[in-house]
Amino acid sequence: MTLARSVRAACIAALAFAPAALAQAPRATGGIPVTAPHAMVVSNSDLASAAGVEVLKAGGNAVDAAVAVGFALAVTYPEAGNIGGGGFMVIRMADGRTAALDYREMAPALASREMFMDSASRAGKASQEGARASGVPGSVAGMITAHMEFGRLPLSRVLAPAIRLAEKGFVVDTALEHSLRGESRLITKFAGAKLFLPNGEPLHAGQKLVQPALARTLKAIAARGKRGFYEGEVAKAIAEEQRHDGGLITLEDLKGYHPAWREPLVGSYRGWTIIAMPPSSSGGITVIETLNILEHFAPLPPARSAGETHLLAEALRRAFVDRNALLGDPDFAPLPVLRLTSKPYARAQAATISPNFATPTSDLESRAPSAESRAPSPEPTNTTHYSVVDAKGNAVSTTTTLNDLYGSGVYVAAAGFFLNDEMDDFATAPGQPNGYGLVQGERNAVAPGKRMLSAMAPTIVLDTAGRLALVLGGRGGPRIITAVTQVLLGVMEYGQSLPDAVFAPRIHEQARPDTLRYEEGALDAAVLSKLVMMGYTPAVATFQPGGYIARIFAIGRTDDGWVGVVDRRTSGGAAGY
Ligand code: DON
Repeated sequence: MTLARSVRAACIAALAFAPAALAQAPRATGGIPVTAPHAMVVSNSDLASAAGVEVLKAGGNAVDAAVAVGFALAVTYPEAGNIGGGGFMVIRMADGRTAALDYREMAPALASREMFMDSASRAGKASQEGARASGVPGSVAGMITAHMEFGRLPLSRVLAPAIRLAEKGFVVDTALEHSLRGESRLITKFAGAKLFLPNGEPLHAGQKLVQPALARTLKAIAARGKRGFYEGEVAKAIAEEQRHDGGLITLEDLKGYHPAWREPLVGSYRGWTIIAMPPSSSGGITVIETLNILEHFAPLPPARSAGETHLLAEALRRAFVDRNALLGDPDFAPLPVLRLTSKPYARAQAATISPNFATPTSDLESRAPSAESRAPSPEPTNTTHYSVVDAKGNAVSTTTTLNDLYGSGVYVAAAGFFLNDEMDDFATAPGQPNGYGLVQGERNAVAPGKRMLSAMAPTIVLDTAGRLALVLGGRGGPRIITAVTQVLLGVMEYGQSLPDAVFAPRIHEQARPDTLRYEEGALDAAVLSKLVMMGYTPAVATFQPGGYIARIFAIGRTDDGWVGVVDRRTSGGAAGY
């Protein structure tokens, strides 16, 4: 079956189980693929996806729509959509131009290498909760910069849906109620409690949420661009909150924040082209290095067999060892990007994989600091990804985050948003695990003005004929890298439809802890016992109640348009026309 035909089959099958209203309208919650002939938007919020479509229909291009979705998510999806965090955007215009925008947060000028260590040089909790956990937010500068470079509509038109949603309100859904309930312990400590936990109880599904302070902030941005956020009343509100609660971000930090255009990474896999995000995210390098290693095994054994799981885990292990030891902010030290993404390097790496045995991570870590591993903490759900394709074939892939659920918990009440806890993505105590169990080195130590290393992996793929084929990314910390890789392999190696590739059970390997994680049902008993004999210690993923390994938001080409896929593992919506 061709890719396009199998996509259609999956869509028809999924819609057969969908309520009639969903089958009629080109919108869906997670797990139900949506097709449309011209353009597609997928995100974690159906209201935000609808905002993107509104802007496309008003004559905007994919970048206008992406910026509209980003601001709308800050309103409708406050646990992850944000103006108090940062992100990465990969763009491919229909004329072939590509761009990668890094609007990751930066450490404030008063930050220091030891700021999160106790007297025994161990990392404490301050990098995850409270005022010191925040880097200088980059989202607003990033979105405005992308819009200035590529957008067509006036900024005020692009922000209009978000302003409307904040000012007039929207109906809270079960996903928001659930996340507020889950994080009420954190939220209740800070100023957001009044709005989100009225009388100590989370907002209920069906209630209306109106955010007048956020509407004011969005209007200031619509009127004054970046200066509406980084200078004036909003900046003062952030700096005042920081001063009051012992944070380090000052008015000068805010004024000095700048996003960075980077050269997109371009990799390939059996004739497909992968356009990916370079540092300060590790996402693109790690995905491309893994695929390059796997390309040496042609064809790969069947998906989720012991043979394929072994090769995938070993390729990921090698790419993660490099990532953890060698990557950081490219503006602070030269990084071996070309080497890590080169085919000869992958050949050498592939040659070190034993056909029969797992390689212990410690054997590969001669360049990396060795460290005790600890079990990863529950998977945070506070990152979000959105993909957009417009009617001309321009494409945008964006991942944005506050890091943990509701970021640092700190809510800038006067301006209506949560601040990130991205400082925890630094190696807050080099050689010791962070919140994701990642053990990282000096390259990613805290320093003033530095961007913390990310795992976010917004990606755009061209098929073997050079046509736009996939626009995807995900949420889930380092699990983003493994999930994006597996979806790409599903389509490029195994010829799966995009929905099948996204919905398939996944594995996860990040070198440290030296444990092969898998989603319930991903590996059968015979495969598991073979893997144990090969030297693995497989364990069911327990990052989240569902045991999910990341969540993917993807758009793929079909014979007659596009399919939008929100992972079955999450809520959200695809919308197209
Ligand atoms: O940049 C990173 O790698 C992390 N801050 C991403 C966090 C994340 O994906 C959590 N969400 N589910």
